[in-house]
Amino acid sequence: MQRVLRARGGLPERSAKQHCRDALAVRGADVRVAGVLVEGAAVRSCLMLAVQANGADVVTVEGLADGEKMHPVQEAFWDSHAFQCGFCTPGFVMTSVALLRENPDADEAEVREVLSGNICRCSGYQTIVEGVLLAGRKAREEGVAL
Ligand code: FES
Repeated sequence: MQRVLRARGGLPERSAKQHCRDALAVRGADVRVAGVLVEGAAVRSCLMLAVQANGADVVTVEGLADGEKMHPVQEAFWDSHAFQCGFCTPGFVMTSVALLRENPDADEAEVREVLSGNICRCSGYQTIVEGVLLAGRKAREEGVAL
């Protein structure tokens, strides 16, 4: 259906996700992970045309870590056991990074509201929320940069 709508609208057939996968060989964009940061905002790359990201700063989950050192949100997810199969984890991590960069003081209600667009088939929501709150707490209390 997307292809038909793009053709009717005279838009390119490729999504930002496809572009990242093919042109940049970015694994995070290749593995069912629609969540990316575009100019710091969490977006679903599968719903965004590549042309919309032209010239923008795009970060996939692969770009968060500093070499072998995980991003603080990834570490907090690890410490909180905030994953089971891991299928949903990159999307939750990217959404959480965007949230905490904007508001490291986010409380549980806000975290749940912002993450409500992400789905975890393993129902690991409680530990995911705990991971986000832990990352926010470390950012506030220990000055950890997000
Ligand atoms: S950890 Fe399996 S879908 Fe979320």
